[in-house]
Amino acid sequence: MENKNKIIVVDFGAQYAHLIARRVRQLGVYSKIVLPEAPLEEFKGCCGIILSGGPNSVYEEEAPKVSKEIFELEKPVLGLCYGHQLMAYLLKGKVEKGTVKEFGTAQLEIQKQEGLFEGLQEKETIWMSHGDTVKKLPQGFKAIGKTSDCDNAAIANLEKNFFGLQFHPEVTHTPNGLKILENFVLNICKCKKDWSMKNYIEMKCKEIKKQVKGRNVFLLASGGVDSTVALALLHKALGSERVYALHVDTGFMRLNESSWVGRQLEKLGFANFHIVNAEKEFFECVKGLIDPEEKRKAIGQKFIDIQNRELKNLDLNPGKWLLGQGTIYPDTIETAGTKYAVTIKTHHNRVDSIKKLVEAGLVVEPLNLLYKDEVRELGEELGLSEKLVWRHPFPGPGLAIRCLCSDAISEDVVSIQKRAEIIAKEFNLQAKILPLKSVGVQGDARTYAHPCVLIGEADWKVFEKASTKITNEIKEINRVLRLLTPNAIDSIELIKTTLTKERIYLLQLADDVVMRAVADAGLMRDIWQFPTVMIPIKINGIGESIVLRPVDSMEAMTARFFPLDKKVLQKITEEVLALEGISSVLFDLTHKPPGTIEWE
Ligand code: XMP
Repeated sequence: MENKNKIIVVDFGAQYAHLIARRVRQLGVYSKIVLPEAPLEEFKGCCGIILSGGPNSVYEEEAPKVSKEIFELEKPVLGLCYGHQLMAYLLKGKVEKGTVKEFGTAQLEIQKQEGLFEGLQEKETIWMSHGDTVKKLPQGFKAIGKTSDCDNAAIANLEKNFFGLQFHPEVTHTPNGLKILENFVLNICKCKKDWSMKNYIEMKCKEIKKQVKGRNVFLLASGGVDSTVALALLHKALGSERVYALHVDTGFMRLNESSWVGRQLEKLGFANFHIVNAEKEFFECVKGLIDPEEKRKAIGQKFIDIQNRELKNLDLNPGKWLLGQGTIYPDTIETAGTKYAVTIKTHHNRVDSIKKLVEAGLVVEPLNLLYKDEVRELGEELGLSEKLVWRHPFPGPGLAIRCLCSDAISEDVVSIQKRAEIIAKEFNLQAKILPLKSVGVQGDARTYAHPCVLIGEADWKVFEKASTKITNEIKEINRVLRLLTPNAIDSIELIKTTLTKERIYLLQLADDVVMRAVADAGLMRDIWQFPTVMIPIKINGIGESIVLRPVDSMEAMTARFFPLDKKVLQKITEEVLALEGISSVLFDLTHKPPGTIEWE
């Protein structure tokens, strides 16, 4: 039975529709995303319509459009950005290229704090991302909010409950955007709150059963949040006999991670969970490699080989088996910051053989419309432990990319050193350039540049300012670190080294210290991700160095370094230093951009 109490979101491209749908779910209401050409029938059963943003201009011939008849259904309509312009255009208003292009944040001056704007301030920060503007309002409309560059930033036909916003209330850069959507969905459309994870689970279980029919499902389970929650949902829908999960232990996992994951799942009654120990093969395939991309490629290929081999060994009859995957919505979006040409993830979710299965309808992806926080909520609802659900994202190649290698051939860094020293001095700090390079991101491109270490005492704000100034002014530097220990640097040496079992084990121990300290301090939910990185840098003549990289983020597209509490930091530093072979601990002060979350 089709749910009538829902919001229809019309998708005009550029990912906005999915974000709007997520916000509507956050409000406890069902939504359905449809394409502009959806038949009018689709709209008849809903309680309101949201027209999403999109990259086009309404006056272009090819621009996607909805049927004008949706405005005759007596349903409330909210147009956002392109959707706002389209509504004005279809109802005989006028849309033109804006003279001043407002991109980014702007201030909205609200006429009356009622209706759509109930509970808001007179001035609200909003996020704009389109050059076109509504120049002439359609009949029956009036402006209800403006910005310094745009008189018609918010418009309404109050009699018909049609609203148009030039900006995006669905993005987090519009801090009170959710309140605007709440006013529309709950007060204006009068939707009932009947969406919940419980209902979602019921609905998905029915869908899974319908798709899978009498067959079984095979799933590769990394132990990460997404594949574990997908597994639990499939398990609920189909029962343990019909779901087979395989975990590949690459040897680059966290300390004792594979067996921990196995035990956790066993406890939950996943009878068909199997671990392949492929550590030896993985270490063999990265032997002698230094370049991070080469390491990624070798590991990615090995993963596919093992996966194919295991699938062959299982000899699954395609008529009886489907492939399950924990793909979540952000995984399906390709953006510069997160796109990896050769990631394991991309590989094992979309290798050619799997693409063919997807086309044939033989892949079950029950999380593919959800975002990470929703997947976590779903996992909790399914009874997974907090420890499983609140694990941080972990890259497919694991610690192999967090353990940097080097041929010890370093470039001359004297001139960068001098420039960094001048800036550091402004903040009463000292600066030293490390003779290695790591990956970062700038605009759409990845960078490969030097880290700069700051030495001295200051608070996080000062370190942040110094870090931003250094990376802004010196392009040869893409990361700035704070030296935690020792407190002075007499010598720095780049060591020649590759990926060895001993180094990975040492990094596993350091990572374990960090993860335990974070869990003990109750910070797992506050910190999005906390890579612990090993770099082949010898400070003052002994051992290697560990870099701490805690970040706060939304879906990993951008990130800010997470200033750790002094006590937690001290505990981590002391315990890491007690590990034989580690002589210094550093803290990464770089936001993303210009630094990526991972080092490699
Ligand atoms: P960066 O380092 O680009 O990372 O800021 C963004 C997010 O992507 C994760 N990541 C990966 N995830 N396979 C994955 O499944 C990979 O190969 C991979 N590499 C990076 C990273 O941990 C962060 O969450």
